[in-house]
Amino acid sequence: MSMFAEQFRKRTPRSKQLYEEARRYLAGGVGGRGKFFKPYPLYFKRAYGCRLVDVDDNEYLDVTMGAGPNLLGHNLKVITEAVKKQLEIATHVFFSTPLEVELAKKINQHMPHLELLRFANSGSEAVRQTIKIARAYTGREKIAKFEGGFHGSDDAFLVSCMSPEIKGPDNAPEPVLDYAGIPSIVLEQTLVLPFNNTDACVSLIRKHGKELAALILEPVAATPGGGVVIEKAFLEAIREETAREGILLIYDEIVTGFRLGLGGAAGHFGITPDVAAIGKALAGGIPIAAFGGKREIMEAVVTPTGDTSDHKNKIFHSGTFSGNPVAMAAGLAMLDEIERLNPYPYLQTIGDRLRAGLREVFSRYNLPVQVSGISSIFNFTITDRPVVTRRDVLRSNTALQTEFCLGLIANGVLQPVRHASFLSAAHQEADIVEYLEKSNHVLMTMRKAGSI
Ligand SMILES: Cc1ncc(COP(=O)(O)O)c(C=O)c1O
Repeated sequence: MSMFAEQFRKRTPRSKQLYEEARRYLAGGVGGRGKFFKPYPLYFKRAYGCRLVDVDDNEYLDVTMGAGPNLLGHNLKVITEAVKKQLEIATHVFFSTPLEVELAKKINQHMPHLELLRFANSGSEAVRQTIKIARAYTGREKIAKFEGGFHGSDDAFLVSCMSPEIKGPDNAPEPVLDYAGIPSIVLEQTLVLPFNNTDACVSLIRKHGKELAALILEPVAATPGGGVVIEKAFLEAIREETAREGILLIYDEIVTGFRLGLGGAAGHFGITPDVAAIGKALAGGIPIAAFGGKREIMEAVVTPTGDTSDHKNKIFHSGTFSGNPVAMAAGLAMLDEIERLNPYPYLQTIGDRLRAGLREVFSRYNLPVQVSGISSIFNFTITDRPVVTRRDVLRSNTALQTEFCLGLIANGVLQPVRHASFLSAAHQEADIVEYLEKSNHVLMTMRKAGSI
């Protein structure tokens, strides 16, 4: 029984009531499993800056920030205004608009490796297309991914990602299905690699190279991977090996695109993929995503010719809402605002302050913690071993971590229990201090109760 559950329940009777009602209509009372946590999920009615207000009128310091999109804060005025204006002009037309061209051009200016791109509505939808591109372009079927690498909700990626089960040795993991409903053929189509382990990866890529259509990676293994940042030398080796074997290198930049900088992780590391997907921060909270890559690849397997040969040579990508003008207007407003503010040096400063502060707070209680992340992304794992892979996360004290997160929530910090955390340009220095003070308070409460 959690020691913070009682405090949580006392503060949130309306959420409890809503949860009971929600369970009659929504599976699990929530719109997606990521929103569910015990004892019951919270329901929110308002957001502003870096704060959320729940249905019981409790205010929270938010470090979830919409699971990533709200890079500059909640309800950014320039975005709400752009959306309102666009709603009056054209809400949805299906066919292309000048806004779509303008946004694609702007993305290309900042991410020149996305020579040709397409829009989508969610990260999962965009990442799904990158795999189809790789399979169509190379004529191969197998995909390499990292253990603990998260790429959304498609079958191809729900392998050795969130499962608590691990198989095979540390340097040669074997694929494990994460959830029910995924055909076992996916196991045969997936090569699982150990993150940041150059020797093991180089030898596995060389062994399986000719069967592999793509190697997909998250430049920051933000959630199941524990927030570990890819090492530059490792990325260089992966880039070299994939190029040699004719494997398309795919960056899943759904989290890192526009969060690590206007050039995303590709710009940050100076190493470019063949194909990439971006989303989340691109439109500051309005649903959007995009995928694209080298012109030669995109032209070969995406650009339609309009005749029957397309059925043989091209992937099918279309979507009722892809390129939706409201999302395009939001994306343009967001990128203009990012260009105007250049929030990245500030985000690095507050991110570093939080990471160092959290280490220091845990050390007061002689509790080992590994705090990871970069810029405005952070995650932490309660263990004395360095965290490099998903296996290190699984070997940590996850029960204590869950308890600490619930303690923070019960004390007014929306610390996601099973998700990477995000800061934003709306977080002030005082918010970082509040986060650290509340972390200290939670650990002190646990110490007094004798649970740590
Ligand atoms: C790295 C990564 N890829 C893909 C996705 C899927 O994006 P969406 O939830 O928009 O489908 C996510 C979502 O968290 C993600 O973090």
